[in-house]
Amino acid sequence: MEYVIEMQDVVRNFDRKEVLKGVNLKVSPGEIFGLLGPSGAGKTTIIKILTGQLRCTKGASMILGQDTGALEPFVYRKMGMMMDNLGLYERLSCYDNLKLFAKIYQVPRGRISEVLRQVDLADAAREPVSKLSKGMRGRLALARAVMNEPEILFLDEPSSGLDPQAVSMIHQLIKKEQERGAAIFLTTHNMEEASKLCDHIALLNEGKIVEYGSPKEICLRYNHQNKLQIRLLDGRNVALPNGSMAADEVKDYLEKEMVETIHSTEPSLETVFMELTGRRFE
Ligand SMILES: Nc1ncnc2c1ncn2[C@@H]1O[C@H](COP(=O)(O)OP(=O)(O)OP(=O)(O)O)[C@@H](O)[C@H]1O
Ligand SMILES: [Mg+2]
Repeated sequence: MEYVIEMQDVVRNFDRKEVLKGVNLKVSPGEIFGLLGPSGAGKTTIIKILTGQLRCTKGASMILGQDTGALEPFVYRKMGMMMDNLGLYERLSCYDNLKLFAKIYQVPRGRISEVLRQVDLADAAREPVSKLSKGMRGRLALARAVMNEPEILFLDEPSSGLDPQAVSMIHQLIKKEQERGAAIFLTTHNMEEASKLCDHIALLNEGKIVEYGSPKEICLRYNHQNKLQIRLLDGRNVALPNGSMAADEVKDYLEKEMVETIHSTEPSLETVFMELTGRRFE
């Protein structure tokens, strides 16, 4: 199969409001795909359509070659998902939350302790969810999402509101899932996370994909200045064109050991997205 996820001209209305206005996207097997965009852009709506929780008003939405409007149970067994509200049972323990899921998804019991260990929650296995911190809840929801070793893993803002240590653990787990062969579809407001993790990202703005590519490609595309910014040890700042015509001058500074730092003017993802959406990602 060429793509595990494919959307063609997907439109979704809520009442009379058109929230998705013709979305096209493709995700290859085993890639980490990041969907970025300001709050209210329609990211969660897209995940809900892809996971069969919502239907599209118009267009085609496919996962593993199946229409997401009529998913068969075998497709659900190949999917894992962590939604933004996590969907955990507050009164059940970590272990029992996973046990319930293991039953539905026909996952062997032994896998429960394994995933709890993976997210460092083995010691909290018997604690009810109501007593867990936000970071622990996120990790539990992630454990549940990967328990059935899915072919496609959906993560709606997996690291939102977590401390750097928890974020790093989640990133490691996402990478591990990719190594195992899973495709990962994630949304995030964190540009650094997107740059670090994603093979491809798409920027959704007001219900439309306005940019797509690898993080590097996108940043280079918006490198309008394309200059080298050199800071010299004497405090001067020099901007040179990023090309062979600047080579002699750069060499000269380097030979005279005058250089403190050299940077290209390539913008960060954050800058690109601010330019495209006119909004900051908070
Ligand atoms: N069930 C619903 N009924 C009516 N409107 C909805 C419903 N679900 C979402 N919307 C609207 O659709 C738009 C997109 O919402 P969505 O949750 O997909 O955005 P998002 O990109 O995930 O935002 P965030 O980054 O804040 O999570 C919003 O204007 C929201 O109010
Ligand atoms: Mg959302």
